Amino acid sequence: MEDLLADRILVTDLARFRRVVDLRASGSVGLPSGHISREELAKIPAGGTFEVRDKRYYVLPCDMHDFIMDGLKRNTQIVYPKDSGYILIKLDICPGRRVAEAGTGSGALTAVFSRAVGPEGRVYSYEQDIGLVNHAAKSLRLGPEDRNVVIRHQGLEQGIHEENLDAFFLDVRDPWKLLSIVYDALKPGGHLGILVPTTNQVSRVLLAFNKTDYLVTEVAEIFLRTYKAVPARLRPMDRMIGHTGYLVFARRMQPGALSRPDAGPESPLGRGDDDGPLGYGDQDIEDD
Ligand SMILES: C[S@@+](CC[C@H](N)C(=O)[O-])C[C@H]1O[C@@H](n2cnc3c(N)ncnc32)[C@H](O)[C@@H]1O
Repeated sequence: MEDLLADRILVTDLARFRRVVDLRASGSVGLPSGHISREELAKIPAGGTFEVRDKRYYVLPCDMHDFIMDGLKRNTQIVYPKDSGYILIKLDICPGRRVAEAGTGSGALTAVFSRAVGPEGRVYSYEQDIGLVNHAAKSLRLGPEDRNVVIRHQGLEQGIHEENLDAFFLDVRDPWKLLSIVYDALKPGGHLGILVPTTNQVSRVLLAFNKTDYLVTEVAEIFLRTYKAVPARLRPMDRMIGHTGYLVFARRMQPGALSRPDAGPESPLGRGDDDGPLGYGDQDIEDD
């Protein structure tokens, strides 16, 4: 399986200019001070530098952060790296896993999943908009069957082809409508993650979970503040990504495993609200 980022490089002036260049494309590359051909760029070693009209540029192999933030054309909101890194951990994604998502959107999370599951794993990505299906397939360089990603052009409510999935991620407007169909596609104990941009949607998701056999494990929001790396005047960047979305995580339980008399809307699954959904305050209790 070919690497998604093969033959992609980052060209930067170490200030505002950052451009991901696909060396397989044709034509020259526009720079703030002129142009350079792809043939010339391909000869510059990783970590090397060049000048065009007295302005200096630097060349690096494109990494996943570069690809998502500076290389991927966005036709939708995307899942940002600050969130997708945590999503990988919470959904326990590793090589060989079978994971699905809806919707594909611009393919940012699809790309992260694809690299994480590796050649032995599979990513099944559902998208109802054919324009976005084609856009993501092009961005991710997907041929018909040559990679570990299968994009399915359909609304998720029309059915999920896969069974026994390790994990599922929902980044759609109405995820609470899809909990039961995803439940049937997950393996017992499998992970579900959801991203929604508003707190109202989080509440609707939690209320919907109350009627299911999922264990809600966490509701989270991730803040990332980066710094100006100037030793003498170390301080945060002036701007940051202030809000992306809220993350909700759950596990598929056996039918009926969570039915208990004290479970209600004020106390999802009857666990109280002092220590978070899983009662992490109890972790200092040792075995006999
Ligand atoms: C916010 S975008 C997803 C962005 C994507 N996670 C990324 O990182 O690029 C939401 C996408 O979900 C798609 N969508 C919404 N409801 C859907 C459904 N029920 N089934 C499949 N796709 C759906 C929309 O067409 C849209 O492309």
